Amino acid sequence: MNKIAEILATMEYGPAPEASDVVRAWLAGHKDGFKHFIAGKFTAPAEKIVFDVFNPSDGSTLAKVAQGSKKDVDAAVKAARATFKSWSKLPGEERARHLYALARHVQKRERFLAVLETMDNGKPIRETRDIDIPLVARHFYHHAGWAALIESEFPHHRALGVAGQIIPWNFPLLMLAWKIAPALAAGNTVVLKPAEFTPLTALAFAEICAEVGLPAGVVNIVTGDGETGALIVDHPGIDKIAFTGSTEVGRKIRIATAGTGKKLSLELGGKSPFIVFEDSDLDGAVEGVVDAIWFNQGQVCCAGSRLLVAESIAERMYAKLRARMETLRTGDPLDKSIDVGAIVAPVQLERIKRLVEAGEREGAKIWRAPGPLPERGCFYPPTLATEVEPASILAREEIFGPVLAAMTFRTPDEAIALANNSRYGLAASVWTENVNRAFEVAAKIKAGVVWINSTNLFDAASGFGGYRESGFGREGGREGLAEYLVAPAGPSKPAKAVKAPLSALPGRAPAPDGDAIDRTAKLYVGGKQARPDSGYCYAALDPEGKVVGLAGLGNRKDVRNAVEAAAKASSWGAATAHNRAQVLYYLAENLESRAEEFAARLAAQTGAHAREARAEVETAVRRAFYYAGFADKYDGAVHATKTRFVTLAMNEPWGVMGIVCPDEAPLIGFVSLVLPAIAMGNAVVVVPSASHPLSATDFYSLLDTSDVPAGVVNIVTGEAATLAKTLAEHDGVDALWCVGPRELAKTVEAASAANLKATWTRLPPRDWAEEQGREYLRRATQVKNIWTPYGE
Ligand code: NAI
Repeated sequence: MNKIAEILATMEYGPAPEASDVVRAWLAGHKDGFKHFIAGKFTAPAEKIVFDVFNPSDGSTLAKVAQGSKKDVDAAVKAARATFKSWSKLPGEERARHLYALARHVQKRERFLAVLETMDNGKPIRETRDIDIPLVARHFYHHAGWAALIESEFPHHRALGVAGQIIPWNFPLLMLAWKIAPALAAGNTVVLKPAEFTPLTALAFAEICAEVGLPAGVVNIVTGDGETGALIVDHPGIDKIAFTGSTEVGRKIRIATAGTGKKLSLELGGKSPFIVFEDSDLDGAVEGVVDAIWFNQGQVCCAGSRLLVAESIAERMYAKLRARMETLRTGDPLDKSIDVGAIVAPVQLERIKRLVEAGEREGAKIWRAPGPLPERGCFYPPTLATEVEPASILAREEIFGPVLAAMTFRTPDEAIALANNSRYGLAASVWTENVNRAFEVAAKIKAGVVWINSTNLFDAASGFGGYRESGFGREGGREGLAEYLVAPAGPSKPAKAVKAPLSALPGRAPAPDGDAIDRTAKLYVGGKQARPDSGYCYAALDPEGKVVGLAGLGNRKDVRNAVEAAAKASSWGAATAHNRAQVLYYLAENLESRAEEFAARLAAQTGAHAREARAEVETAVRRAFYYAGFADKYDGAVHATKTRFVTLAMNEPWGVMGIVCPDEAPLIGFVSLVLPAIAMGNAVVVVPSASHPLSATDFYSLLDTSDVPAGVVNIVTGEAATLAKTLAEHDGVDALWCVGPRELAKTVEAASAANLKATWTRLPPRDWAEEQGREYLRRATQVKNIWTPYGE
């Protein structure tokens, strides 16, 4: 029989396994178990507890790995702390050399790392070889460059200290690189915990750290499960937590770190839309779907797991998809011609099955690719679910498997509404040949990354991270580096102590105290003065305890009304930056023309000397001009990522921001926080100084006369703790700034866990004359990266 002729006739694939003998020999060399990597040495676990790591494609045991205990985490944090000073003081070029060395050694071991990753995780060798490991090297190279540039590009910034980093199992070594490279470039030291399913490439990386002579303690790797992760999160010697994983654990970490002052970035789940308009290149879109949801078996936080397709082409698209799915080969991930590998662990396989069955019970039509599955190991076929309702479990829940949930739409507005109908906001993919439509949709989608006519593209030069419950903070590029640095703004000199009592908040209106009271200041909601829902007001006292005025005692309901009014003012964010600048200039001029009146009010409330009060108003006026000037100058960037792609980093306003002002510095504190927020296009709900609310309430008339549209600034006076907590819990508030004591920061950060809004808490007292700059603009925006290919 002529075998070759037969093969040519059938075009069947033969086996094309990648050799694994080198990796197996390495594993055999560690058959007694892997240790932690602490202070540059492989260190036996203090508690001597180990667990097995499996190959998900055949269930075989690959290695025994140490379970990190409190003692291990303590030792790792101590080592990282001990080295921090010398590492952060090292000239940037020296740190760069170390990062280059890491990059080169990763490259030298590319084949080894790709095979090891595939065996540990189950993803196809094609992906580890062509995507994961090259991106790891790219990340270290890119950040080596940053190490040398930090001083000039981030003047006066400093490293944070020790970063605790907890990573998931879906891109084990790549997530390690995303965490370690920027941290080291910025001068931090790290304690990293890989996921319990996939710790092996992190341990191989530890060998590389030792091999390149990275100073001991700069990188520490402690293995273990969620308990070890929680020990890192709770450790008092940690300055920052960077986490990638499930939204559920992200929430726990937000609560655990509340009030501790630890900086936090969270990269969480997603349910990303993949939108196909009727004018799109359908075959291209089908290939896009393959990369969106069958890449890494769909175990990708930004997987395009919701297909939104124009109704008129839906059946054609489904037919093409099914035809393509029939050609996908699921099987041994070490085989070079396999498209879909193994699911990482039996528990994840069960989860996928459970969710798909639940979707089927809800009425979705399930179609599984017919190709054969291996008899052993964790495999799930590529799956298409059609007739999925937007409320269905398949449309809402992150399945983290090779399951595509398809829905249809009729108009672009409906497509956008469906895309945004999710508590997540990590990524989106938009397919259309109409460039105007592509960018309009990209602008309107709530997601940190939008790929136009493309999907699942990553590069070290581009930021990556989510909106909403997909977390906050970015990884990659300039914006990712900022997460590992402390900005220069800070309490360079403490403000004068406030003499007035901090919470003179009687429930009911006290009797007016002489002539000082001419009126009760109301709340300011939707451009109108509003009575507080409670009907109560409280007395604002001067330092002698004399009543200088009455202010409304706002409650939860008032905050809700204010948030509603702010949400209606979304046209402010869509207005041109030039328009916003003009309004802010006008506001600055009007404040200047009423400087005497504002100064007198300040002096009456705080007992400040007339000269000091005038100086505070002058600073406020200058600040208003400063942010008016910046309104149209806080630009985005075009990142240098891949060839034939434009990657736009757009600074977008959050939407609705809550702002809790410091109790001291009633005018300048208010102005320093509100103006950068609105300059960037946000609408705000402000809780002014509780003790001295009248400077803020005087502000109404300025807003009215300066053409600030109704709803852009809403002011709710009252007790900071109650109002701040309500803002933190409110789903309609996208970000929250809060200046107050540590207890208040803790309340706010813990309460924000419900919808994982970004918070920025700052402890008083601060020198508000100094609190101005780009950091405020950075915190008033989030970066959306839009990738667009060009060329035919
Ligand atoms: P997970 O969030 O539990 O695990 C991620 C990492 O967090 C691991 O290193 C784990 O050991 C650690 N961890 C767990 N509990 C912790 C705690 N209390 N404190 C600190 N660290 C802790 O994710 P899991 O259970 O492996 O997967 C469950 C689901 O999560 C998946 O089906 C998927 O939907 C989602 N997921 C999302 C990822 C993403 O990249 N967005 C990555 C992994 C999972």
